[in-house]
Amino acid sequence: MAAQLFEGKEHASCYQKFRFEPSQEIIDLIFGYVDERLHKPYGFAVDVGCGTGQNTRVLAPYFKKVLGVDISEAQIEEAKKAMGSPNVTYSACPAEEMSVGDASVDLLTACVSAHWFNIEKFVKEVDRVLKPGGCLAFFSYFTNVEIYYKECSEQITEVFAEAVNSLAPYMHEKITLMRTEYKEIYESIPYPDKRRIENIGTKLHVPLSNVIGLFPTFSAFHIYLRKEPEKAKDMLRTVEERFLRIMGTSSTDTEVEVRLQNVLLLASKPQ
Ligand SMILES: C[S@@+](CC[C@H](N)C(=O)[O-])C[C@H]1O[C@@H](n2cnc3c(N)ncnc32)[C@H](O)[C@@H]1O
Repeated sequence: MAAQLFEGKEHASCYQKFRFEPSQEIIDLIFGYVDERLHKPYGFAVDVGCGTGQNTRVLAPYFKKVLGVDISEAQIEEAKKAMGSPNVTYSACPAEEMSVGDASVDLLTACVSAHWFNIEKFVKEVDRVLKPGGCLAFFSYFTNVEIYYKECSEQITEVFAEAVNSLAPYMHEKITLMRTEYKEIYESIPYPDKRRIENIGTKLHVPLSNVIGLFPTFSAFHIYLRKEPEKAKDMLRTVEERFLRIMGTSSTDTEVEVRLQNVLLLASKPQ
């Protein structure tokens, strides 16, 4: 089962440290859409497949109440440990059967998670929990990351891409939904008011250690680690050595610029 890929406690704690928060640009696009459709003050938001709560926490200032749900108890435990707002709570449950009342949700988000769900069942569940006029926002970034540092951006981007490609034999089939930029997921949304926004670029400035730290958050890396632990650890060491050598630095604290591409699906349930 795909969800079991996220059960490990160690995996969850890597998530908390290294996964990105959604960019301000994505938040602005979501709220540009929501502001035209919902009345303020906004009531209840649910973040599905919330992991350790990176996106859940971002919703807190906009809603009276925010709930993060995830099938993995380990991810929910990490989410609860993080600094939170009093209006944010978490619950372990599947996206296809949420512990949420009928027609109770104003905004439902799924950040880097919708591709893991049983989409047919999830879409029915979303329709059950959304209020008439309620909105959904599903979004994801992709692994074709670009990394910028002085004159060696091309080379270090290539190191990252090679390492991602080396994980291909361990990638779950669900990752293909991500690689086709959520087109199938978009098609399964049954509402006429919907849009798909692609090529949303995000720039982040992070230490190199955060780029290397992304690998242990990838589900494919976890399969590799389970099957060939020594080779998986060796791959991480090699990636770090190559980055440092090419960049001419000895410290993984060195700051790099990371550029990500995102896709965002927005829709609104008819009144
Ligand atoms: C790639 S992580 C994304 C986590 C977080 N939203 C983020 O932005 O980093 C995908 C999450 O979806 C959860 N997940 C996978 N299948 C699920 C399901 N059927 N129901 C609920 N959560 C699920 C996993 O446990 C995992 O935490």
